[in-house]
Amino acid sequence: MLIKSISLTNFRNHTKYNLECNPTTTLILGENGCGKTSVLEAIYILTQGKSFRATDPDIIKRDAEFYRIELRYDNGEKIIATYNQKKKSFEVMDKKTSRLPSKQRYPIILFLPSDLNLISGSPSSRRKYFDRFFCILNPVYASALSKYEKALSQRNKLLKENFVNPTTIFPWNILLAKNGALISKVRREYISIINNSLTTTYRSIADNQDEVELNYQTELQENITENQYLSILEQNYEKDKIIGHTSFGVHKDDFEFIFNQKLADGSASRGETRSIILAIKFIEAAIIKFKLKKAPIILLDDVFSELDNERRAALINNFKNHQVIITSVEKFTTKD
Ligand SMILES: Nc1ncnc2c1ncn2[C@@H]1O[C@H](COP(=O)(O)OP(=O)(O)OP(=O)(O)O)[C@@H](O)[C@H]1O
Ligand SMILES: [Mg+2]
Repeated sequence: MLIKSISLTNFRNHTKYNLECNPTTTLILGENGCGKTSVLEAIYILTQGKSFRATDPDIIKRDAEFYRIELRYDNGEKIIATYNQKKKSFEVMDKKTSRLPSKQRYPIILFLPSDLNLISGSPSSRRKYFDRFFCILNPVYASALSKYEKALSQRNKLLKENFVNPTTIFPWNILLAKNGALISKVRREYISIINNSLTTTYRSIADNQDEVELNYQTELQENITENQYLSILEQNYEKDKIIGHTSFGVHKDDFEFIFNQKLADGSASRGETRSIILAIKFIEAAIIKFKLKKAPIILLDDVFSELDNERRAALINNFKNHQVIITSVEKFTTKD
């Protein structure tokens, strides 16, 4: 499926904005702050159900009473999201819902400038990155992650209270164990799928013999059961109460990039790092296409200025059979 058009009302700095999209490449050109990333953000909300960078109170145009965004696909389907300071709602073919129904989701590959810092960034930025990908791939993972995050925040809040005891915290332990065990299993599985093609994809971009691997860095043993997870949380209760937060769980996981048997952060060069990120993006698109049987739409937010000609060409070539929407401050070329 292809996006035909997107229109925005009172969304970020846009009072009214409409974009007709090409089936192949659409370029959104404009100076800093003119609202380019916001257009991608609106597309992301209408395909994934929520923004990749903020919540609705930040998104609604300052002093406006509502925002409305509308996306039309080439098959005639139309999805509308509105937010009126209190409530967000989605409307698909005249049916209103508070969340975007999962069958209305359409896979997206989002490439942000900050993704280029993925390898040297914080563990939490890597978790967020891979979670975004795994959520698109697997609605069960998305639901488990959302439940896990809510339970974690509740448990951490309780741990800071004087009245807390093992009984009051028990329901949250159960939720963390159930969803945490599933999250860990899915992370392990997807990392292994990524690793099946990481080195070959990297070599197709960088044209050399380097090896790249993604390593799941976790305290959780393989195939941990819900009961094992639960008993660790229970054993940690006194310690967690003293430190005031949950010390064990998938919220501490990391995804490490290994480059020629060494941690890529600190050993891979800037160019090599960029090639690794491109490889990850290409693999994301391939896995999504294979698993979901849909060609993801590619949103490239201002990344061309960060890439050299060789990598720009690799990017364009790899995504030539996808709909690509690109934002940029300046016109660019893939030739010298
Ligand atoms: N809720 C809001 N209401 C009004 N304006 C907003 C709101 N949120 C953000 N803005 C402004 O909207 C503008 C557009 O932001 P956006 O990130 O889309 O710009 P951009 O074109 O991608 O810029 P850059 O090239 O710097 O990445 C910015 O000037 C930002 O300060
Ligand atoms: Mg931007």
